[in-house]
Amino acid sequence: MRCLVTGVAGFIGSHLAERLIELGHEVLGVDRFTDYYARELKEGNLGRLRGEPQFSLATVDLATADLRPLLAGREVVFHQAAQAGVRPSWGQSFEGYLHDNVLATQRLLEAARTYGRLRKLVYASSSSVYGNAEDVPMHESSRTAPYSPYGVTKLAAEQLCELYRRNFGLPTISLRYFTVYGPRQRPDMAFHRFISAVLKGEPVRVHGDGEQTRDFTYVSDAVQANVDAMEGAAVGVFNIGGGSRVSLNDALRLLGELAGPVRVERGEPQAGDVRHTLANTAAARAALRYAPRMPLREGLAAQVAWQTRMLGLSR
Ligand SMILES: NC(=O)c1ccc[n+]([C@@H]2O[C@H](COP(=O)([O-])OP(=O)(O)OC[C@H]3O[C@@H](n4cnc5c(N)ncnc54)[C@H](O)[C@@H]3O)[C@@H](O)[C@H]2O)c1
Repeated sequence: MRCLVTGVAGFIGSHLAERLIELGHEVLGVDRFTDYYARELKEGNLGRLRGEPQFSLATVDLATADLRPLLAGREVVFHQAAQAGVRPSWGQSFEGYLHDNVLATQRLLEAARTYGRLRKLVYASSSSVYGNAEDVPMHESSRTAPYSPYGVTKLAAEQLCELYRRNFGLPTISLRYFTVYGPRQRPDMAFHRFISAVLKGEPVRVHGDGEQTRDFTYVSDAVQANVDAMEGAAVGVFNIGGGSRVSLNDALRLLGELAGPVRVERGEPQAGDVRHTLANTAAARAALRYAPRMPLREGLAAQVAWQTRMLGLSR
């Protein structure tokens, strides 16, 4: 298939593009290299892709560029581009979240309905659409009540995908990822920060009591869900969780076994952080044949190994 992967220089987008190429598809990647984290890391993410004849890159902003040439001849769009991060989404920076998450998605959908001949548009949604759910595990029909401005923009974009599907028959499918981890994880995310601190012998800063739980999803499982979404007939909204729900305290104990002694420094809970996430993935299992495979210990070990290499350490 001829695929478009937005946010291709990012954590999930780069893994997804590599997998699509491995499977024999052709990928046009789009990224505007936002300065949310270092360009150097994003260039590293693209390292393998740049040598692939089936890969090309357009460095454009989806919220302002002419999207028609990007969609010409494309059969599937994987829309991973976004301004991620819960904590920085308050205050002045909200404008950036609107630009990259809402406006960029609306323009992509509008262009897809006007010029596109898509078999599928897969949107990277988020468990953040649920907010502090009373209903755990979260089911696709659970109430959506985001707890951060970031979550509001991810839900707005997901709703736009649904609107374009219902009004114009655009075949959109939204995958609500639950905390994705693994090599190339964004440097602002908890596991990345924790591993980096442990490897450098620095204290690990935990906000709150550490008893908050997350459903952690290994990146290859999230990528496989995208491939399943491309290949199957399903449209609509699906939870994509990893089936490894642990508290941050338990994750830190595991990290201690894998990476070395963990010194915890406790900080105040952060506005926007939810208490628990856990996905009910029955719908994705039934409609997409989604089945997460990576156990947390193995996935975390792979991320530790990657960060060890990144820091130029040997173990
Ligand atoms: N990582 C997670 O745990 C997680 C969880 C839930 C949802 N998601 C969603 O998955 C997607 C990928 O997340 P990630 O962790 O890989 O983030 P990332 O920041 O590593 O990648 C996103 C990429 O999108 C690019 N981008 C942003 N705005 C753009 C625009 N207007 N035009 C072109 N490119 C633009 C950025 O430069 C960046 O390289 C995002 O949509 C995010 O909201 C991620």
